[in-house]
Order: sequence, then structure tokens, then C-alpha cells
Amino acid sequence: MRSSVARKGPGPQAARRLLAWYDVHARVLPWREVPGVMPDPYRVWLSEIMLQQTTVQAVKGYFERFLAKWPDVGALASAPLDDVLKAWAGLGYYARARNLHACAKEVAQHHGGRFPETEAALRGLPGIGPYTAAAIAAIAFGGRHAAVDGNVERVITRLHAIETPLPAAKADIRERAQALVPSARAGDFAQAMMDLGATICTPRAPDCGRCPFAACCEGRKSGIAETLPRKAPRKERPVRHGTAFWIERGDGAVLLRRRPERGLLGGMMEVPTTAWGAPPAKAEREAPLAAHWNALSGEVHHSFTHFDLVLIVWRARHVMDGALRDNGDYRWVMPEDLSSEALPTVMRKVVAHARGKAETPRRKRL
Ligand code: ADE
Repeated sequence: MRSSVARKGPGPQAARRLLAWYDVHARVLPWREVPGVMPDPYRVWLSEIMLQQTTVQAVKGYFERFLAKWPDVGALASAPLDDVLKAWAGLGYYARARNLHACAKEVAQHHGGRFPETEAALRGLPGIGPYTAAAIAAIAFGGRHAAVDGNVERVITRLHAIETPLPAAKADIRERAQALVPSARAGDFAQAMMDLGATICTPRAPDCGRCPFAACCEGRKSGIAETLPRKAPRKERPVRHGTAFWIERGDGAVLLRRRPERGLLGGMMEVPTTAWGAPPAKAEREAPLAAHWNALSGEVHHSFTHFDLVLIVWRARHVMDGALRDNGDYRWVMPEDLSSEALPTVMRKVVAHARGKAETPRRKRL
């Protein structure tokens, strides 16, 4: 059994103070209702999927565009996947866009167009993990669930002065977060915790003087709030390398390729590249066609969750159609149409690099 010390917590007045603070300071966000009003589950779900691993600032515009295009779950379910991927381009983690579409279809076809209300049923839908299920169940349906993301972990570790490093402290944090959730206004409480973490209980220089938890925050009392949460040392992320082939046809069209459906950036378009790994010794062998290559100066850098990617770009101009070496899913695209292609951020960087950089005199002949 746990000791009574471990169970001792900030108490119900902490939740009341937080909600009172939220009533005045809630951020105005496009997917939100004013405090106290239940929002449309479709808007809640869409925003929570978009907000997975992406900032509020980055999501706002995408959310508005998606809603304008697909105002309800039925409309999104009926949209071609490629349109959804295109509208998603730039938000990253493209498996989320595929799951978003799959989830919309499932809700439309098997739930009569209404999102299920329980956390357990929500977790059965594509793309909805424990955090998102808890957030939707609380925000859209008032279920008494704690939605614990990085911001909320920070608030809870400080509130309870938890010095065990992450990730080992996660289960303890979850339990304490859940214990705080009031039975009324659980959705506002979840969003209030998010706002507190984003605006007051910030990673550096938390604004404890304005915090509704100031009186009961153990981290503040012991003067260690800003040093929390502790984190186990990070492993170095591996670096992968590749060469991207920017290939222009006589009429200016550029060669793109669709990535395989499964795996990283599945189904998105790309500027063809070599495989990503050690710096390629014989990149020209992996080019989609034989050409005179000019290596552009500089590199394109992009961070994925599990590795960093460094690409160099080779350009070939005035190539002939029909010279492709394999039967990959290639397409020629005019430069003015590139912006409406489902190009992930890393490939948008490649496009910008290829279009804006001068060539070095180094020439490769094949
Ligand atoms: N981060 C994740 N979900 C959020 C929400 N509903 N509001 C603000 N930030 C969030």
C-alpha cells in the first residue's frame, strides 16, 4: 500500500483555483468554446490529432483550412486521401494524416457519424492513443480523465516536487494528474492544465507569482520548480545522409516520386533521393535517370523523431522524358504546381534549396 504521504496532494481547492484562473485567462483558440460550453467533438478530435507533436501556433492555420474544406466528419471521410495529405503537407508525421482519414471513415461508416464518448472506445479508433483519447473524452464529453502531455508532466512534477527523472516518473505523474481532475468541468480542467503549462509553468523562468497553484506548489516551496522535471540523459540521434536529384525537363517540369505507402512519410511525394544512410559513394547509380549532374553547394538538414537527415542536392537540366530507369511512381510537375503537391517539410526544404542555390563548378558525368 502507498503511504499517506504519497497520496497527500494539493486537494480539491487546487482544481477550483485552476478553473477560476482559466475562466479569466483561457487562451482563445479556434477549436475552443468559451469556458463552460461543450465544443463540437469533430473540432476537438481534429485539433487534438493536429496538436500531436506540433505547436498550437503551427496548427491554427491548418485547423481553419481543414474546417473550411471539410466542416464535419462525413465530409472529411468522403475526401480523397490525396487531398487530405496535400492539406496536411507541412504539419509533419504524415502517418497522422492517413490515420485521420481512416478514423473519419470509421466514425462515418461504423458510428453513424458521431464520435464515441468513452475513452476506451475512442482508443479503438485509428490514430487515437492514450493521450488523445483522454483529451477528447474530457474536452468533448466531460469525462473525468487527465490528458497528460509534456506540459502537464512539467506542471505535475513541479506541483509535487517529483525528482525522479523522466521517463521513470511517468506512471507516478499520471496517477497524480488523474487525482487532481474534478468531476465537473473535466474538459475545461484539461485545457486549463495545458494553458498553465504553456503560459505560466513554462520550462524556463516560470511565472510563479501569477500561478493559481502557487500556494500549494511543492516545487516552488523548495525552490526547485525551475529545475523540474529532471530528465534521463538523451541518447545521441544518428545522422543519415542522402543525395536528392533535382531533375528538370526541357519545359521546366520537375521530376517527383511518390514514396511507398508504408513507412516514413508513406504515400507523400518526394524529390527522388538515394537511400538514406551512410553518405552514398556512388549516388549516380541510384538516380532515377542518367544525366549530367551539377552538385549544388550547401546541404539540407531535417530532424525526424529518431534521426537527423543531411541531404545534398544534385541538379540536372533539360533531361529527356522517357529515360527513367525503374518503374517507380514518378510524375513530372510544373514548378508553379509544386506548392499544391503533398510534399513533406523535408522535401519543401529540398525544393527551396534547389530553386534558390547557385551551382558549384563541380560536374559529374554519367
Ligand atoms: N495541446 C494539445 N491539446 C491542446 C488543446 N486542446 N489546447 C491547447 N493546447 C493543446
